[in-house]
Amino acid sequence: MSFASDVRRGLGRRPRRLPPHWFYDELGSRLFDAICLLPWYRITRAERRLLVRAARAMSKGAAGPALVAELGPGNGEKLALLLAGLGGSRRVLLADISREALSAATARLAKGGFADVAALRGSYEKGLARIARERPRRGAALVLFLGSNLGNFEPARASRFLRDVRSALRPGDGFLLGADLVKPEKDLLLAYDDPLGVTAAFNRNVLARMNRELGADFDLSSFAHRAVWNAREARVEMYLVSRRAQRVRIPGARLHVPFRRGESIFTEASYKYDSAELLARVEAEGFCARHCFEDGPAGYALTFYEAVELRRR
Ligand code: AVI
Repeated sequence: MSFASDVRRGLGRRPRRLPPHWFYDELGSRLFDAICLLPWYRITRAERRLLVRAARAMSKGAAGPALVAELGPGNGEKLALLLAGLGGSRRVLLADISREALSAATARLAKGGFADVAALRGSYEKGLARIARERPRRGAALVLFLGSNLGNFEPARASRFLRDVRSALRPGDGFLLGADLVKPEKDLLLAYDDPLGVTAAFNRNVLARMNRELGADFDLSSFAHRAVWNAREARVEMYLVSRRAQRVRIPGARLHVPFRRGESIFTEASYKYDSAELLARVEAEGFCARHCFEDGPAGYALTFYEAVELRRR
């Protein structure tokens, strides 16, 4: 789906919504990197600490994976950390729809001395198809899905994704999954509505992106950033709320959008998990958890799963 067609589909109906992957143009990717440095957004730092422990556990004994693939590598920092911890040399595959993320991750890995790196610009599904096609005959493959990226999928899409990962793997291959856990509402709201306004800028940037790429005339100051904890769905929801009645033109999507005062665009859902429940969900798709690492204070879990024989459904 192109940006224009997603905008047309998502803003041309009520309630208005946009898929979150359009946040990540060059500016959006940098704003996300800045979010990861915020003291209130603890996912990245917690995961970094857990990756060091995971690499230590995974490098004991066996030769380690011959292919490491990351879906949505961001700036590549965490992958570089894991590869350094695993030691040895291996093939690396990156898949992301963001050109900016891929070039940042590739540069980061090159700087870390990892030479055998292939980058695929495309969906996670395309990335998984390529892993299945190009995996070395000998040795295991390891797929990483970090940063609680799973949380940006609706539950049905998350299950489909887990199934797709399993289908791309063979028994004995690995899957390393990072997931943010349910925590007190005040901590979640600070993480998604930080006092510095970085997350607000990240959210509003999708309006700026429509102005830049689709010739839209959004007045950014007339949309407020809003983060809400939806306890029933166990997710943080992000919105852009129109501060006044207004009409926005988006020529690149052949659209005029009338906003009522207080009307919102739903821009992101970020699901939070119970670690035992998530583990059972992943295992139900053909995996077995081998190592679980949890950061209690940050409320974050990193789990290494091994693909097992698929039972007949
Ligand atoms: C990339 N993703 C897992 C982030 C999250 O926490 O849902 C994106 C983000 N949105 C606001 N802050 C960070």
